[in-house]
Amino acid sequence: MAKHLSNLQIDSARLWGAIHDTAQFGATPKGGVRRLTLGAEDKRVRDWFRAACEAAGCEVHIDALGTMYAIRRGRDMTKAPIGLGSHLDTQPTGGKYDGILGTLAALEVVRTLNDAGIETDAPLCVINWTNEEGSRFAPAMMASAAYAGDYTTADILGRTDAEGISVGQALDAIGYRGTEPVGQIKLGSFVELHIEQGPILEAEGKTIGVVDHGQGIIWYDGKITGFASHAGATPMPLRRDALATLSEVVLAVETIAREHGPNAVGTVGEAVIDNPSRNVIPGDIAFTMEFRSPDGGTLDALDRALRPAIAEIAARRKVAIDLDMIWRKEPTHFDPRMIAAVQSASDALGYSSRRITSGAGHDACNMATVMPTAMIFVPCKDGISHNEIEDATQADCTAGANVLLHTVLSLAGVAG
Ligand code: GLV
Ligand code: MN
Ligand code: MN
Repeated sequence: MAKHLSNLQIDSARLWGAIHDTAQFGATPKGGVRRLTLGAEDKRVRDWFRAACEAAGCEVHIDALGTMYAIRRGRDMTKAPIGLGSHLDTQPTGGKYDGILGTLAALEVVRTLNDAGIETDAPLCVINWTNEEGSRFAPAMMASAAYAGDYTTADILGRTDAEGISVGQALDAIGYRGTEPVGQIKLGSFVELHIEQGPILEAEGKTIGVVDHGQGIIWYDGKITGFASHAGATPMPLRRDALATLSEVVLAVETIAREHGPNAVGTVGEAVIDNPSRNVIPGDIAFTMEFRSPDGGTLDALDRALRPAIAEIAARRKVAIDLDMIWRKEPTHFDPRMIAAVQSASDALGYSSRRITSGAGHDACNMATVMPTAMIFVPCKDGISHNEIEDATQADCTAGANVLLHTVLSLAGVAG
């Protein structure tokens, strides 16, 4: 690569400014962000993002699931665009970096190339995927999964949130149901920058994580049907308490995950008591549960161990426990040539790095099933994410964006 190109760096202050400017959309008192997918705050950040991409000379396309694709023209428009981006939605008590860093760093790559007057050979496509988080509508990463052909657009449009609002209705409500058929913009490859969301890079003092694998995930919806009755007048042996049952289920999930460790985790993340009251024994509870592992066989083993444990608890406590596996995402193996491209970019820039497995799910894991895909991680403070105190340094975010820039340049080629 020509000397002036190998020295090219993104504008750190501008990237940092974009991250903090957009953090106002859904800002929480504790310094985090609450920006549930397709809600009012998501519309505001989308409007900001569209205007910024257009001001950077991109043509913005929106697909039928609301995913935003900002195309920067290349010299050879017959070439498939190189995709780069992530997501702008957050968890209910999310942070300022999860997804946001990767999307705004992708925009910063375009702005940097514009400033330097660099035309790439292949076009670039900066992407904001709809509903990566999966906390309002399940499953997570649904738009990229539809792009990859795992679901039909109609199936995803019909998914509903806890209030019964469908994805289609939510898209219409914020004006982001686009006309581009899902999967129509055919990308040549995809690169996603993200905070690690775990403790490894920080603990080892490494700046860049070159992601080689992603964990597989199983999600369940559960329902416990016990019997609601008087908290004072029902003797202990006669109770069919749904919440006490759930407590045993939670501990069983924890035990099973530990027994299949170190490469397995299990969580009960949500539980809703039906008509709760302090002097009524809980009768009905809805809950969600998940297991993750980088190994598909371990996922099978976790599910196999769960079934009899749940059956035993239900029988002993004389309650019904219904468990519905609503999603399974196989482990991801990223493309070796894409891993090498990220590694070379990081090495050329002089950053310390290590190979790493992603504990979180990412849109890149869906893209990896249909095209060469890479992920770049940077450290986050104490490995904390999905929390309002999620934090990352400007220097690390800048380093990640520089690796993104040079990885994309190596994939797109430079015109001239
Ligand atoms: C998404 O953030 C996930 O890993 O669940
Ligand atoms: Mn994310
Ligand atoms: Mn997340």
